[in-house]
Amino acid sequence: MKPIKVGLLGIGTVGSGTFNVLKRNQAEIKGRAGRAIEIAMVADLNVARAKELTNGECEVVSDGNLVVTNPDIDIVIELIGGYGVAKDLVMKAIANGKHVVTANKALLATHGTEIFKAAQEKGVMVAFEAAVAGGIPIIKALREGLTANRIEWVAGIINGTTNFILSEMRDKGLDFDVVLKEAQRLGYAEADPTFDIEGVDAAHKATIMSAIAFGIPVQFDKAHVEGITKLQATDIRYAEQLGYRIKLLGITKRTKVNGRDGIELRVHPTLIPAKRLIANVEGAMNAVLVQGDAVGATLYYGKGAGSEPTASAVIADLVDITRLATADPGNRVPHLAFQPESMSDTPVLPMSEITTSYYLRMQVADQPGVLADITRILADSTISIDAMLQKEPAEGETKADIIILTHQTQEKNIVTAIQKIESLDTVVGHVSKIRLEQLS
Ligand code: HSE
Repeated sequence: MKPIKVGLLGIGTVGSGTFNVLKRNQAEIKGRAGRAIEIAMVADLNVARAKELTNGECEVVSDGNLVVTNPDIDIVIELIGGYGVAKDLVMKAIANGKHVVTANKALLATHGTEIFKAAQEKGVMVAFEAAVAGGIPIIKALREGLTANRIEWVAGIINGTTNFILSEMRDKGLDFDVVLKEAQRLGYAEADPTFDIEGVDAAHKATIMSAIAFGIPVQFDKAHVEGITKLQATDIRYAEQLGYRIKLLGITKRTKVNGRDGIELRVHPTLIPAKRLIANVEGAMNAVLVQGDAVGATLYYGKGAGSEPTASAVIADLVDITRLATADPGNRVPHLAFQPESMSDTPVLPMSEITTSYYLRMQVADQPGVLADITRILADSTISIDAMLQKEPAEGETKADIIILTHQTQEKNIVTAIQKIESLDTVVGHVSKIRLEQLS
């Protein structure tokens, strides 16, 4: 059978990894796919570098339009990133009947509905294993391996940059700003780290997982996005004393509010029990925990970024498409796991309606009745206390730190209670609030 021809848009870190792994493992990949997979054309603005990386083994152009309109190309790999040129070229590739492989989580989380609809109409596949957790085959697991299950929740460490920063903060007791600079120096964080540290990258990935897990459209605009920039070393230390680690988690969960079904979709720093396996995922590694009703909890761990780990996911998609290219489009794996007519309209809930537990830290005057006032406010809001820690004032200080862990409650209850606590004369400044998940 003649080789399947691939056009590559962007030969940066992941693109060159894809080129190299495809070449290195070509015999095995061909044995698995049933046909050779050949990168026939590369488009990159830096033509000279692209030619150097591909050793004259394929055509190199600067204009991606030449790739997506080339009748000889069967599959287009989009590794440009962003929503501008990338979206334009993906839509053109689909319109020209090409299958698409992309690592672009931002594009799918925001424009996925339009892209999948166009692909459905044209009878082509859009594959995106590399968009979530790099080399970990989490899309495959959710969409195919766990297909028997009603997925209950998914919680993941899906951003390596922030996990590296949190690990360093905990290990070395350093503040966020100091560790961020170190992470940038070591190449773990980008020069502009905003998308990573503000939780946007993790929210793109959580949005995609939410769609596949629950058969809902991709809805990044409904996700709650909170990064790690405000996290203090003090909170990491107190969490540890209480038996917890703080991780930036992407969480999506089925829930019921007042008898109505809803989906939680949120990214924020989260306390998790230190004894959980996922709490011990350190450095730039990723891990995703999935709870299915039949299988129980399953955990997926590996590298969430990097040249060859991400290439591993891109090539897995190439092989899948190669195997299914001649299949009737109706018999292929649906883009979002569920057949288009079986998609659900269960709403993504506003943050005020989510239910979780909380870590609260406040500074108070060390005098009689303060604790009683605080616990009374929590009791009046029907918030039950799970654990509490009071630290005596430091030498020469008059203020004490109080840390409270609550049982589960709705976010709106805790917000109201915090407002009341902050209005007490004996409480100094703001109450720090971090959500807590048992993940059991
Ligand atoms: N910047 C991401 C991370 C990798 O730090 O995990 C690509 O999504």
